[in-house]
Amino acid sequence: MSLLDTINKNNLPKHLAIIMDGNGRWAKQKGLLRAFGHESGTKSVRTTVETCARLGIENLTLYAFSTENWNRPKLEVDILMKLLISSLKNELKTLQDNNIQLNSIGNLDLLPKSAQKELQEVITKTKSNTRMVLTLALSYGSREEIVNAVKNISDKVKNNIISIDSIDESIINQHLYTQNLPEVDLLIRTSGEHRISNFLLWQIAYAELYFTEVLWPDFKEEDLYEAIISYQKRERRFGKTSEQIK
Ligand code: FPP
Repeated sequence: MSLLDTINKNNLPKHLAIIMDGNGRWAKQKGLLRAFGHESGTKSVRTTVETCARLGIENLTLYAFSTENWNRPKLEVDILMKLLISSLKNELKTLQDNNIQLNSIGNLDLLPKSAQKELQEVITKTKSNTRMVLTLALSYGSREEIVNAVKNISDKVKNNIISIDSIDESIINQHLYTQNLPEVDLLIRTSGEHRISNFLLWQIAYAELYFTEVLWPDFKEEDLYEAIISYQKRERRFGKTSEQIK
């Protein structure tokens, strides 16, 4: 029996989030410049997106560029932005053919204008697609997202649009970039690092975490299947006892 056959299609994560890490180390191991690692990483993005759609995962969120990534050398930032633009151009057809809607979260105003334009175009063209929502976290930082939400909620309190007493978890959810997404069920990080790196801190409160040594450019269908199989073996108790779940 193949790995794919062992996946229970009725117990898939509704929202899978991935910290794609290890492009730089992959390139270094091969004696290549980091840019080649990122370029190779885009191939894993494509495979993962197609595999998730085929499996029936409804929401996939990829950490493509963090607020902290702006501090990398300008040359590397420029390469990542160029790869983003070319991927958006090249993958529109794949998104349409697979009925996938593109979405993005983060402080998008900081992206180069050309990237903003390309992103907006693909988001608009795919907005009626229904099979899966692919969210790219770009110039994204969870702390910034939370600060932003607090400011917007405070503003509404100040202008008597909402009362302090009405603030609850649902109000906070509605003010995050992820307002239209369910909370994360499974978070994968590649490359052997065991960190969250300011990604979806609020949204992963009850996510299952899966860490693999595989570097992102080497992450293939089988690696995704293994992560999902591990997820399906876990008992998600959400604070309850095992007996209560059964
Ligand atoms: C982490 O590897 C990866 C990134 C900072 C960017 C992820 C980008 C891609 C996969 C390519 C472009 C993406 C899209 C959506 C078109 P790293 O550079 O931190 O690796 P290292 O830790 O080994 O140095």
